[in-house]
Amino acid sequence: MSTETHRELTEEGVEARVGELLGQERFAPPAAFAEGAEITDPELRAKAAEDPVAYWEEQAGKLRWSTPWETALNETDAPFYRWFEGGRVNVSDNCLDRHVEAGNGDRVAYHWHGEEGETRDVTYAQLLEQTARFAGALRELGVQEGDVVGIYLPMIPEVAVAMLACTRIGAVHNVVFGGFSATSVAERMEVSGAKVLVTADGGRRKGKTAPVKPEVDKHFADLDGLQKIVVVKNAGNDVAMQDGRDVWFHEVLDAADPVDPVPLDAEAPMFILYSSGSTAKPKGIQHTTGGYLTGATTSLRQVFDLKPESDVYWCSADVGWITGHSYIVYGPLANGITSVMYEGAPDYPHKGIWWELIEQRKVTKFYTAPTAIRAAMKWGVGHVSGRDLSSLKLLGSVGEPINPKAWLWYWHVVGGERCPVVDTWWQTETGSIVITTLPGVDDAKPGSAGTPLPGYEVKVLDADKGTEVASGEGLLAIPRPWPSMLRTLYQDPDRYRSTYFDRWEKGAAGGEQIPYFVGDSARIDDDGYIWVIGRVDDVINVSGHRLSTAEVESAIVAHPHVAEAAVVAKADDLTGQAIVAYVTLQGDTESTDEVKAEIDAEIADRIGKLARPKRIVWTQDLPKTRSGKIMRRLLRDIAEERDLGDVTTLADPTVVESLQDRWREGA
Ligand code: PRX
Repeated sequence: MSTETHRELTEEGVEARVGELLGQERFAPPAAFAEGAEITDPELRAKAAEDPVAYWEEQAGKLRWSTPWETALNETDAPFYRWFEGGRVNVSDNCLDRHVEAGNGDRVAYHWHGEEGETRDVTYAQLLEQTARFAGALRELGVQEGDVVGIYLPMIPEVAVAMLACTRIGAVHNVVFGGFSATSVAERMEVSGAKVLVTADGGRRKGKTAPVKPEVDKHFADLDGLQKIVVVKNAGNDVAMQDGRDVWFHEVLDAADPVDPVPLDAEAPMFILYSSGSTAKPKGIQHTTGGYLTGATTSLRQVFDLKPESDVYWCSADVGWITGHSYIVYGPLANGITSVMYEGAPDYPHKGIWWELIEQRKVTKFYTAPTAIRAAMKWGVGHVSGRDLSSLKLLGSVGEPINPKAWLWYWHVVGGERCPVVDTWWQTETGSIVITTLPGVDDAKPGSAGTPLPGYEVKVLDADKGTEVASGEGLLAIPRPWPSMLRTLYQDPDRYRSTYFDRWEKGAAGGEQIPYFVGDSARIDDDGYIWVIGRVDDVINVSGHRLSTAEVESAIVAHPHVAEAAVVAKADDLTGQAIVAYVTLQGDTESTDEVKAEIDAEIADRIGKLARPKRIVWTQDLPKTRSGKIMRRLLRDIAEERDLGDVTTLADPTVVESLQDRWREGA
């Protein structure tokens, strides 16, 4: 029997309803939601725009500072901006001590759910106790302020403890997503000069154990700078502990004395997070303490309409990505709310597990990625039907453009047409959400992220002229600095400048500075709503995971029989984009399944399984200009089965014809 709360859904019914709604351009905040919303002032953006720096000072002032700042924004060394200069603050103090002192120590910080149904509740008081001790342990292991600590852990509460402990003593964390291979972890530890790595014996994934520590051991033997590896006992698999280097997390935690939070300079580096750019070398995106925390805390509070006393919030991302940093760890904890942390995959132990957890935990705010929504659509409404999802009040989306059909499915099936859907646009570089809709104020338009949050200005600029596009297509730009922006690329200020501040002149877009170059193209409509189209560089977005074509290419050409490779992105119904690799083998090497499997293994080893191509097209040659440059545009057009247009600039125009044939043959 269908009841109001346990809605019975059928595929036909959902399809008909979504079809009906496809014609609706705007979705106003549902009345019941708007009534109870925290932000109801439609003038908030306009007020913030009058004096954005003063607005940000007001937001930063909601945190606990041990010393107030003297200068809110110092632009003298632009684009190396400094926010809240002279101020001293500690992130773990704001995320933990502050709430415990206010009497909220017994509040659950994380309802942790393991893959096999285990649960663990961690309160704010417990998280504080562990963080303070682990900070002490890190110190005893030789970690000092400014030292880099690598973190390569599964989705377990210890990952938050490790991150927060770093912030407590001013160590800089460098978290690597658990889906990346140990080789890429080793590379990132080496380039960041990490002193300590915190990892686990193993990770659990869909009923299997991934031998994390044994893999790490294979690649870490000759890392000079790395002095200690701290191992969390998680999967219980056998691991070898190297004398003098390896220690158990639980042992050092037990032995350590808790330490107090160290007041840190607002501009003290807080973390680096490696992300893909246009070259094979990942960029070490560096964030600092006061500005980052201000951005993450403010945005989550506003966009998710937080009610710390009653909300149960769940962000399904992985901590290894920026979404996990800002919206699983720092944003939620700084706001003192209760979150769900889930270790596993969305389809394990069954394809309805997310909805089961929402029902069980009475989740109120849920944040996920379009790719997950599309997967759920594919698995069918049967996995959602009959569940009581009436606790939900708001739904969020992040990581890639959400197509209107997926948006409407989310709105109708998951949200029961009661919950605003916020599509949040941002980047590792921005640190926190920049473009979205304020859920109690703004209408949503499925497919558009919305407009800039208060305190931000975002413009669409003409790609050639750099002039502002009032309505139409162009490149996204952020003309003025904002608190949670990256401050530099780790030990590479030149690359920071050339990547983000070389595209436009000072003062383009009306500001006083060189606008920040986002790397996305977008359309702005007559209402000022922004419709993000996608990257304009060689970055591919697979299931919201950012990868670079150059990185994948260099892994492919590492195979001894590969002569040349070119990688492009192709639109994909499920993953947003998928990787297509055009590969030329050496001499008379045959293009067998075995070679394909070896190439896949090479990529899995160097980067991670997530970077394996959906399709490899074997070819004798690649389309090149007379000067030898590979014309990727044509490779994209071939994969998208588009008309190729003018190919006369090619050294050998017949190459593309044979490639088109091979593509159609499915070779
Ligand atoms: O292209 C945009 C896309 O993801 C890029 C940033 O990737 P990353 O740094 O890994 O951060 C992802 C999580 C914040 C952007 O340049 N992107 C992110 N969110 C959206 C999006 N594209 C469209 N709509 C979004 N909501």
